[in-house]
Amino acid sequence: MNPFRYGEVVTGKDFCDRPALIEQLRQGLESGRNMAIVGERRTGKTSLIHETARRIRGLQLVHAQLWAVKSIDDVAQRLIDAIISSERRRSSVIESIARALSSLRPRIELDPHTGHPCVTLAPTQRVTPTGLQAVFDLIEDRGRRQRLAVLLDEFQDIRRIEGADALIGSIRDRIQRQRRIAFVFAGSIRHAMEQMFRDPGSPFFKAVSIIEVESLERKRFRAFLGRRFRAGQRRVPKSSYTRIFTLAEDNPSDVQQLCSAIWDCSEVNEMIGPDQLQRALDRIFATERKGYEALVRPLTDIQMRCLRGLAKLGGNQPQSKRFLEESGIQLAASAKRALDRLIALELVYDRDTNYKFFDPFFRQWILTRFG
Ligand SMILES: Nc1ncnc2c1ncn2[C@@H]1O[C@H](COP(=O)(O)OP(=O)(O)OP(=O)(O)O)[C@@H](O)[C@H]1O
Ligand SMILES: [Mg+2]
Repeated sequence: MNPFRYGEVVTGKDFCDRPALIEQLRQGLESGRNMAIVGERRTGKTSLIHETARRIRGLQLVHAQLWAVKSIDDVAQRLIDAIISSERRRSSVIESIARALSSLRPRIELDPHTGHPCVTLAPTQRVTPTGLQAVFDLIEDRGRRQRLAVLLDEFQDIRRIEGADALIGSIRDRIQRQRRIAFVFAGSIRHAMEQMFRDPGSPFFKAVSIIEVESLERKRFRAFLGRRFRAGQRRVPKSSYTRIFTLAEDNPSDVQQLCSAIWDCSEVNEMIGPDQLQRALDRIFATERKGYEALVRPLTDIQMRCLRGLAKLGGNQPQSKRFLEESGIQLAASAKRALDRLIALELVYDRDTNYKFFDPFFRQWILTRFG
């Protein structure tokens, strides 16, 4: 069986150890410290939190996913779902949870997908920031009986809700009053998270400690991947690992995706060299091709030139004379406008004035197709 996992939370034997980060997070979770976990997409933020929580005896993790959350009702519902999913004996607690939330007029229903009982708020319900306090009361109450940590994942999306400032302010006040439970805020839209936690004008400024999650250290990750390849009798020389990390730009999820493709298109006892790597990359292109084509189709000529320039020359100085010349763009201002559009389309992002592709394989595909 293919031993590589990507695009999902990994824990236990699927988790390549990150001792320093785990230790830092462990101390925070154990002492009820509130923390923000900041890092780029797919660097392993959620996995790190799950794995750390798993290693703390008796700690229950309530994981609320706030991705694309639209309203305060939605926040309340996702927190309620998270509380219920974290309970091992959910049927026996469901009534007490519904009772505790009676001010929100909840109903007990069966989840049509899983068949498990769940608590739903009426669609007409309009939860206010004050109403949300009932959900936090419930969390606090459970925290008295059980060691608890609460993960608010993709927290930056809460900013798009109408009345977000008041909501964020009330969450800040609430978590600060509540000392026993560690609240962990994670998010992958870096500039949005930075603004929420580092901007002096934000309610969360200095309210939490910030932990940065970078890529996995190559040497440790190589050993982790190597054990898997060896168990399947694939032979991977060091030079191929270097190429894998370069192609995937050290993103842990993309590294694992590439390794998974290598595994799928190689055989027992095969030596993994440049040809095998190319085959694996082609395999990824084949699965992603439709999506990639849809990404480039709406681009204008200048945006396309700019994208190709970034793929070829890297994103360090996309308005320099050399970049403009090699990309065939006349004015720096046009390059800037094209870049802004590529960022808005989430094809590339700006990291400390260096423009990078969200998906390193898309970059490789651009190079192969248009380079
Ligand atoms: N410690 C690790 N060991 C091995 N693989 C890892 C590790 N951390 C992350 N990965 C790889 O990255 C993938 C994504 O992990 P995870 O979902 O935790 O990242 P994330 O930063 O929360 O992503 P997102 O930005 O999408 O929320 C995993 O499926 C796995 O392939
Ligand atoms: Mg995540």
